[in-house]
Amino acid sequence: MINYTEKIPNNVDLGRDRVLQRALEHWQPAYMGWWYDMGPNESHNYEVYLRTATSVEPDGWAQFGYVRMPDYRWGIFLQPRDEKREVNFGIHKGQAAWQEVPGEYRSTLRRVIVTQGDTEPASVEQQRMLGSSCPSMYDLRNIFQVNVEEGRHLWAMVYLLHRYFGRDGREEAESLLARRSGDADNPRILGAFNEPTPDWLAFYMFTFFTDRDGKFQLCALAESGFDPLARTCRFMLTEEAHHMFVGETGISRIIQRTCEVMKGNKVEDPSDVRALGVIDLPTIQRYLNFHYSVTLDLYGSDVSSNAANYYTSGLKGRFRETKLDDDHVLADAEYPVSEVVGGKIVAKNVPALTALNERLRDDYIDEIADGVGRWQRVIDNAGIPFRLTLPHKGFHREIGNFAGHFISSDGEVLSEETWKNHEFEWLPNPNDYAYVQSLMSGRVVEPGKFANWIAPPARGINNQHLNFEYVRFN
Ligand SMILES: [Fe+2]
Ligand SMILES: [Fe+2]
Repeated sequence: MINYTEKIPNNVDLGRDRVLQRALEHWQPAYMGWWYDMGPNESHNYEVYLRTATSVEPDGWAQFGYVRMPDYRWGIFLQPRDEKREVNFGIHKGQAAWQEVPGEYRSTLRRVIVTQGDTEPASVEQQRMLGSSCPSMYDLRNIFQVNVEEGRHLWAMVYLLHRYFGRDGREEAESLLARRSGDADNPRILGAFNEPTPDWLAFYMFTFFTDRDGKFQLCALAESGFDPLARTCRFMLTEEAHHMFVGETGISRIIQRTCEVMKGNKVEDPSDVRALGVIDLPTIQRYLNFHYSVTLDLYGSDVSSNAANYYTSGLKGRFRETKLDDDHVLADAEYPVSEVVGGKIVAKNVPALTALNERLRDDYIDEIADGVGRWQRVIDNAGIPFRLTLPHKGFHREIGNFAGHFISSDGEVLSEETWKNHEFEWLPNPNDYAYVQSLMSGRVVEPGKFANWIAPPARGINNQHLNFEYVRFN
C-alpha cells in the first residue's frame, strides 16, 4: 500500500479517503507527464535546494533540502479548520461556513476554482525556458522554487475538484493539464497567462505584478463561505509571498546594478548605458508598463454582474473582507469607476456590488504603488534623476471600460493613430526585447557569480551564503 503521507504530504486524511485516492492516482501520472513536457527545461537531473511544505505547522511548511526536481513532493494542505467559522458576507452572512458545495452554486464555484487553477500550470509553461539564461545559481534556484510551488497550487485546486465535484471535477482536472499557455487552439483561460515570458526582466516583472494578482485573487477566495476553498487559499498565500519577493528584489537588483554602472561611468544616455552591458532605466519602465497593464486586465470588467453574484452568494469576498467596517452586504453602497465619455475620462458612482472587480484592482494598485516606490528609492539613493511611474489605469487595457480606447501612459484619451505613434515609447519595442535577450544568451551558474546586469541579493536563501551551491547539476 502507498504511504500517502510520504508520497503526497497532506492534511486531508488522504490515506483514508479511497475515492480521492483513486482520482488522484489516475491524475498524478498525467501531472508528471505534463511536468516532464512543460516543466522547467533540462532540469530533470538537477538537485535543487528547495523548500517543501510537509505540514501546516510553523516548522513544517518550509523544509529546506536538496530535491531532485521531478521527485518534489507536491502536497495538499489546507489551513486547519476553525469550527466556528461563518459565511462572512452576502445573503448567507451568519450561516455556518459550508463544508460541502451548496448545490445551487456548484457550477459557479467550479468555474471559480478552474479559473484560479488554470493560472498555476500556465506560469510554469511561460517560464520553462528561462533556466538556460539564469543570471546566477541563486536565481536559478528561485525560479525552480516558484515553479514547483505553482505546481503545488495546481494540486491544491485539483484536490478541491476531485474531492467536491465528482466526475465534472475530474474532467476539469484533466483539462487543466491539456491547455497550454499561448496555444492558439487550446490556450490558458486568462490573457496575461498566454503572454510569453521571454527573459529574466520579464520574469521578475511577472512575479512582481502577476503573482501579486494571484495574491489578491487568493485573498478574495480565502474569504469564501465554501470553507475548503478558503482554507486551501489561505495556505497557498504563505507560498505566494516568496514569489513576489523574487520579483520585487529581482527588479530592485537590476535597477541597483544599472545605477552603479551609470554612476561609475558617468553616463545617462540609454545607448551609453547599454554599451556597458546593463539594462537602461527607460527599458525597465517600458517592461513595467506592459506587465502592469496586462495584469490589470486580469481583474475583469469594472462593472460586472458576475462579481456581484459571487459576492452576494458568499463565494468570493473582498480583500481583507472581515477587517472591513461595513455591513458586508453592500446592498445600498456605491463605488466609483472610470469611463471614457466624449474623449475624457470621468468617474462615476455605480452600485458597489457591481464594482467589486474594480475595487479589488484598486486594492492591488495601492500595493503595487508601494513596491514601485521602493524601486524608486534605489534610483534616488544613487542620485540619478529618473522617475519610475505607474502608467494610468486606462493605459493599454483590453478588458473593461477602457477597452477599445487609446489612453496614453499619463491618462490622455488619444486617437488610435496618435497612440500608435507613441506605442513604443510606452511599451517594449522589438529592439528592447532583442537587447535584453542579448544580455541573456547563456547562463551564469558558478556559485557566488552573478551576471553583469544584476546586483547580488542582500542575502542568500534560508540564511545560506551567496556562494552556496543552490543547484547541483550532476
Ligand atoms: Fe500560484
Ligand atoms: Fe505564485
